[in-house]
Amino acid sequence: MIKIFILLAVFMMFGSVSAGNAPIVIRTKNTCLVYKVNDQQQVCQSYFGNSLNDKDCEVIPLANDAIVLTFGGNYVFQPALRAVHSDGNTSTDLIFGRTETKRLNDNQTQTDIYLKDSYFAFQVKVSFKTYEKEDIIAQWTEYSNGEKGTVTLYDYASSCLSFDSPKYYLTDYHGNWADEMHQTERLLNRGLTTIESRLGVRANEYGHSFFYLALDKPAAEENGKVIGGTLAWPGSFALHFSVDNWDKLRMITGINSYAGHYLLESGETLATPALLYTFSDSGKGTVSRRFHRWARQYGVYNGSKPHLSLMNNWEATYFKFDNQILSGIINAAADMGFDLFLLDDGWFGSKYPRNNDAAGLGDWEVNRAKLPDGLGYLVKECQKRRIKFGIWLEPEMVNPHSELYEKHPDWIITQAHRDLDLSRNQLILDLCNPAVQDYVFNIVDKTMTETPGISYIKWDCNRFVTNSGSFYLPKEKQSHLWIEYVRGLTNVLQRLRAKYPEVVIMACSGGGGRIDYGSLPYFDEFWVSDNGDPLSRIYIQWGVNQFFPAICTASHVSVCPNHTTGRTMPLKFRFDVAATGKLGMDLQVNQMTDEEKTFSKQAIKDYNSVKEVVQFGDLYRLLSPYESNRVALMYVLEDESRAVVYSFLQEKDIHGNTQILYLKGLDPNAQYKLTEINKGSHSRLNDWDGKTFSGDFLMKHGVSAYMSDEYESFVFELRKI
Ligand code: DGJ
Repeated sequence: MIKIFILLAVFMMFGSVSAGNAPIVIRTKNTCLVYKVNDQQQVCQSYFGNSLNDKDCEVIPLANDAIVLTFGGNYVFQPALRAVHSDGNTSTDLIFGRTETKRLNDNQTQTDIYLKDSYFAFQVKVSFKTYEKEDIIAQWTEYSNGEKGTVTLYDYASSCLSFDSPKYYLTDYHGNWADEMHQTERLLNRGLTTIESRLGVRANEYGHSFFYLALDKPAAEENGKVIGGTLAWPGSFALHFSVDNWDKLRMITGINSYAGHYLLESGETLATPALLYTFSDSGKGTVSRRFHRWARQYGVYNGSKPHLSLMNNWEATYFKFDNQILSGIINAAADMGFDLFLLDDGWFGSKYPRNNDAAGLGDWEVNRAKLPDGLGYLVKECQKRRIKFGIWLEPEMVNPHSELYEKHPDWIITQAHRDLDLSRNQLILDLCNPAVQDYVFNIVDKTMTETPGISYIKWDCNRFVTNSGSFYLPKEKQSHLWIEYVRGLTNVLQRLRAKYPEVVIMACSGGGGRIDYGSLPYFDEFWVSDNGDPLSRIYIQWGVNQFFPAICTASHVSVCPNHTTGRTMPLKFRFDVAATGKLGMDLQVNQMTDEEKTFSKQAIKDYNSVKEVVQFGDLYRLLSPYESNRVALMYVLEDESRAVVYSFLQEKDIHGNTQILYLKGLDPNAQYKLTEINKGSHSRLNDWDGKTFSGDFLMKHGVSAYMSDEYESFVFELRKI
């Protein structure tokens, strides 16, 4: 009774409960999503688009687009929910219960729509959290079993949204290791199109859970109606786009339920991850800027603090190093002006030393043959040079050639009676198992406490799930592995974050394998690709930065000729591409000439001078690599006081490229001083450098600077005066 009074009092202060026929309106500053309840008591989506006033929301005609499309009434199209009830009934009929709305703070509101089955004690809650200023909606669903027996969920989506448009164009991002993020747009025909991952761990290796859905016409940068969305989930995902015979589209997103049916016990609730999305009528650029602003504030760990630039030894040494080699790299990193040195793979393992990728993973003891004075020596070397120290770990994995595997052969994901299926000579530890979760937490904790002074962790994860069996899960719940693994990982990350709030953690995952807003609340940044070739990176970062901001896009100047593509490219081009993200370096400094070292020092200084703009600015994409030889993008601070512009040429243009850069996002009434930075041996900006122009001029007339050479680039800064 007392509880009820307290609840009532809380709602009177902060929230509201509604049960009548008024429209349910989910609002951000520029968008709104409207639901209405029809005569059969079904909750139906009636509008999603630009913001409408309350009165207009009331007159919106009722549409019959179920908020959760269930299997039962509908056998034809992809459902959001397919449940087999405890008595074997395969249908679900959801009717409206009530709505609760809570104002969480001056920017966030949560609306919960409660539904229940018309017969069974089975409840569904669809929740929406709005980020008003950023125009982002997070939508997820909870499924609760109030029946006496178990309910089996075969489909259990996070969201189900409907659209009615003559045409739909879907853009997605797919690839492979070192070849990530190919952008493809397709016209959706009638029937089902699914973008999915079945990989479980390192789920993004072949594709990503972010997409654009353009209505009427293909998605454009600055105009047209487009929905941008991504699922905040580090595991297997499925994004279903189902066009029916009346050309209506249902977009159903969530955890991939393929081979993943879920036994929902009596009294249990399954909470699904959020789909984050927005609607824009001014193209993809607006979607990206909204996601970036949202991410820095809410989506990425420490997304609102400047990030460190670092020197990594991976491509410089691979597994072959000693104190002397590493000290040389540390000294060079400090001389050049980096903030941190990151020691990569190969520093551990004693019985099975990690001298290549076939042994030692899981044995997190320093290899004294390589590093006789332990990690502490390297920390001190960094401290002497006033830079920070970071370390590589791959806590979720194990090599069969390791002491850990010898001790715990039952701690891995595999199927009984089957040969081990190795990938990169390794296996995945079964994080469904709480003992394994403890082990993973403890090895990170031990590494951190034994060597004080570790400021950064590169958290790698180099394979995905095959032979998807768990020795821990009961036989009837083997299909829960995909969800239980993510729960186990999240548990470990939460414990680590509670103990180490300051340490910077990078989600490496072999490059590109773990880039999602389910992971990023625990990670400061991610590694986009093991391919550090700048030409490849132009495309890869073009893709990832559609939904993820530069501040968490680790982007390194790498070895030349490039180890992945074999291409040779100027150091300036390598720096300029890397500088569009969070700058780092991954090469053998003792192979650099003095001239290159001097250039690098200046390049890092220049990066630091505009780092605030890159890491916190709004991104405007000016020329797409998919559309022209010249590529250009710019960042502008929210207050329009500063901007930085990058221009790259992909191929030699023998007649010269004169494409104009029409700048964006500036204050038309302000004067800006243009200064070229990271200058090469010659400048293309002689007519512009050091001069002052109005924002209006720069946006309407644009900056016309000739380019001609393969892998040519220039960068300039604009400061309001
Ligand atoms: C894969 C990562 O992406 C690389 O940067 C490097 O850390 C290696 N793993 C080390 O094994």
